[in-house]
Amino acid sequence: MTGLDIGTSKICAAIAGVSPDGKIEIRGIGLAEAKGINKGFVSSLDKLIDSVSTAVKAAEDEAGVKAHNVVTNISGSSVAGKLNEGLVHLSRRGREITRRDINGAIETTKNISLTLERDFLYCVPQEFVVDDNAGVEDALGLFGTKLKVRLYVITALATHIQNISKAVSYAGYELTDIVPTLVASASCILRDEHKENGTLVIDMGGGITELAIYKNGMLRFFDSVNVGGMDLTASLSAHFKISFESAEMIKRKCAGISKEDLSKEKKSIFDVDNRHVTVNSIIINNLLKERFEEIFYILNDRLKSSEFFSDSMPAFMVTGGSSLLSGAHESFEDLLNIPIKRWRIEEIDADPSYLSNPVYSAAISLAKYGLDKEKKPGRTYSRGKSFLLDSVSRMRAFLDDYF
Ligand SMILES: Nc1ncnc2c1ncn2[C@@H]1O[C@H](COP(=O)(O)OP(=O)(O)OP(=O)(O)O)[C@@H](O)[C@H]1O
Ligand SMILES: [Mg+2]
Repeated sequence: MTGLDIGTSKICAAIAGVSPDGKIEIRGIGLAEAKGINKGFVSSLDKLIDSVSTAVKAAEDEAGVKAHNVVTNISGSSVAGKLNEGLVHLSRRGREITRRDINGAIETTKNISLTLERDFLYCVPQEFVVDDNAGVEDALGLFGTKLKVRLYVITALATHIQNISKAVSYAGYELTDIVPTLVASASCILRDEHKENGTLVIDMGGGITELAIYKNGMLRFFDSVNVGGMDLTASLSAHFKISFESAEMIKRKCAGISKEDLSKEKKSIFDVDNRHVTVNSIIINNLLKERFEEIFYILNDRLKSSEFFSDSMPAFMVTGGSSLLSGAHESFEDLLNIPIKRWRIEEIDADPSYLSNPVYSAAISLAKYGLDKEKKPGRTYSRGKSFLLDSVSRMRAFLDDYF
């Protein structure tokens, strides 16, 4: 199983298998420059196919096996989460709720969620409402006159899904699933108690930052914003009037937004773009901190739209390459006023440097997601069927996991 993370700044493939003792092991990781992709959307099919092939081939070389089945991600502004409700009337005097009624309510909700332009990606039933009683976890067998289901559904533009699918298939791999990036990462890095008690998960990548909130064991909120580490790099590039690549190199080498980074002055000279650039750490770090805070306030506005977000949440976790910026963790912690929980992918055999690296976490999580789903019965859409033609049965198979 190959997890393929199509990111704005890199494409990462992770080939995973199951060892004789049943443990998932990462056998190879490959990276390629992200070409043909812009903030999650395909901007050139040929270039994206090339990048995907390069990343997967590098992973194949390390693993010593050929990749076949691929689970990939989808991100960007077309991916959206929404709470939808579907209602079925049972009988005026009330009767016992059957599995058919539950499926009917879900079917109704599904029809509300899927429009002509949007296709299904992921959903989680949040609760049932029987008559006027909300908060019903399991409606089967209860008496009622009407049944409502609240379903949190993530969809994306159908054309967006089709373009990503086409790139992976044309690169020569069989696409078995497409998952919103943070849904895969969260299912790998969060333990049950984090999902139960309430955790905010942030993936701050290059061009996109994704947000997810888990509470009472399930996903409650998902959103993404087209901001990320590239905006920080762009502000350095504009400040020094140097290329984006040179600014990226300077950012990775000597920038940071921790309290120490902001107060300790250090001057460095870089030979970039055919000239000497003098970098005063106090100036650039304060510039980055300002930009980081602007990004945070955009994210905070989105978070505030969720009833599940509050500063009394027990923890948040942050992943994505931008979390490697010195001081990013503590800055998020100060701004959110929520304690950070460090993560490390557990229960997977791999080179230890892979398991805590936020740049690899999505690809590893996607591979694990694919292997976990393969074990479950009812996921009939996966092998030998066209992923594209199968949105409705994908949704049905998905719900089979719950009911
Ligand atoms: N050591 C580092 N210090 C600071 N920033 C870093 C470091 N390493 C990577 N980054 C930043 O991380 C970002 C890339 O992160 P990541 O690999 O998670 O993004 P992506 O998955 O390609 O993009 P996206 O998820 O936004 O589509 C870049 O903006 C890069 O500058
Ligand atoms: Mg990413």
